[in-house]
Amino acid sequence: MKNDWKNKVAIVTGASSGIGAATARHLVKQGLNVILVARRLERLLDLKEHIEAMGGKAKVIVADLSHETDRERVFESVQADGGADVLINNAGFGWYGYYNEMPWETAREMLEVNISAAVHLTSLFLPEMQKRGRGHIINIGSISGSIPSQGIALYSASKSFLDAFTTALYRETQRTQVHISVARVGPVLTEFCETALQREKGGHVPTERMGVTAEHVAQRIWQLLLHPKRVIYIPRWLSVTPWVELSFGWLEDLIGPLLLRRQQT
Ligand SMILES: NC(=O)c1ccc[n+]([C@@H]2O[C@H](COP(=O)([O-])OP(=O)(O)OC[C@H]3O[C@@H](n4cnc5c(N)ncnc54)[C@H](OP(=O)(O)O)[C@@H]3O)[C@@H](O)[C@H]2O)c1
Repeated sequence: MKNDWKNKVAIVTGASSGIGAATARHLVKQGLNVILVARRLERLLDLKEHIEAMGGKAKVIVADLSHETDRERVFESVQADGGADVLINNAGFGWYGYYNEMPWETAREMLEVNISAAVHLTSLFLPEMQKRGRGHIINIGSISGSIPSQGIALYSASKSFLDAFTTALYRETQRTQVHISVARVGPVLTEFCETALQREKGGHVPTERMGVTAEHVAQRIWQLLLHPKRVIYIPRWLSVTPWVELSFGWLEDLIGPLLLRRQQT
């Protein structure tokens, strides 16, 4: 398989841990240069050092993507260095519990990071990619976008948003050299659940000890760059999820509230 991505530049948001860090490392192995974006400088510098030790190139941009001004600064900094070929909108976080107990500040931040950051960065980078006649934007979604579940109301909605946004953009950019995709990811063993638990009033995410590795997700993202398509499921068997919601959503209506109540006691 010919690798057209050698020496191209990929921005990975949320690169300080989990899926983002694994994806950045994997893309470097495939010959891309990476731009690492997140808030925790030390983590990003450690990853940059690791990548350089592998013989790769990485640039660090510290940014809080819940802030519009930081997102603009990321764009300006990347453009000043010649632009980007790949944008992976991966930064995101979850929160588990009854929505009526979710602090508004956490909800507002989730809307900003999980939705606005992806939308805003896409509106900044997509026209540039179209001008260059090349690019791929990958949004990291979740199967919870297809099966909205009790306990993760806003998180599910944020990932459904990414699904709809990606699908519509995919249809706008068909037959161009700029690709848009969403990865609908199932449980992954990262810091995601721990971070959700640490948030104010956050509960244990039921899938906290389950899942594939971040490295597995990174490999699938690389395959997606080689073979662009609108949507992929990670792991593959989760492609059943939209059908499960259509066929058995009524069952989740019945047992979902019981599961959440049990989880919370
Ligand atoms: N793990 C799962 O089970 C799972 C399942 C489906 C989908 N996903 C999705 O996968 C993506 C990555 O999650 P993960 O599992 O790798 O979790 P993770 O290990 O907690 O990583 C989350 C990343 O997002 C970054 N981030 C959070 N808030 C940010 C902000 N305000 N500004 C900039 N960066 C921010 C974090 O960096 P800093 O804290 O350093 O800023 C971190 O690098 C998320 O979109 C998540 O919704 C995860």
